[in-house]
Amino acid sequence: MNNPSKLLTLAHEAAANAYAPYSHFQVGAAILSDSGKYYSGCNVENISFPTGSCAEQSAVSAMICGGDICIAEILIYADSKKLITPCGACLQRIAEFSTPKTLIHLANTAGIKETLSINDLLPHCFKEF
Ligand code: THU
Repeated sequence: MNNPSKLLTLAHEAAANAYAPYSHFQVGAAILSDSGKYYSGCNVENISFPTGSCAEQSAVSAMICGGDICIAEILIYADSKKLITPCGACLQRIAEFSTPKTLIHLANTAGIKETLSINDLLPHCFKEF
């Protein structure tokens, strides 16, 4: 495993820039791609509530824009005492670019609390049609 402290720093910085005036819940996500590049994103809310984006969605978009398609590690940071897991839609977004070895770190204001796989979080993922 890469030292996830860099991912924690990036996700923490991203959460600080979150645009969350409706929920007041700031989230940041940081990705280490299999090519060794880092990406991050934050949640971006909208007055038209369903139009908002999750932090994971923003980070995955940044990774694709940067030319990577494989997540080695992703860290999700909630600026909260609660530990969150990605929403269902974001699990599917993460699954699209993960392998069984992808590390999914969950962090809150107390630090990194858990590291799971996509199979732990979304065992019956939609994979083919
Ligand atoms: N949110 C994320 O960005 N990621 C998650 O994993 C859970 C929820 C955001 C969406 C919304 O802006 C706020 O947190 C409250 O749901």
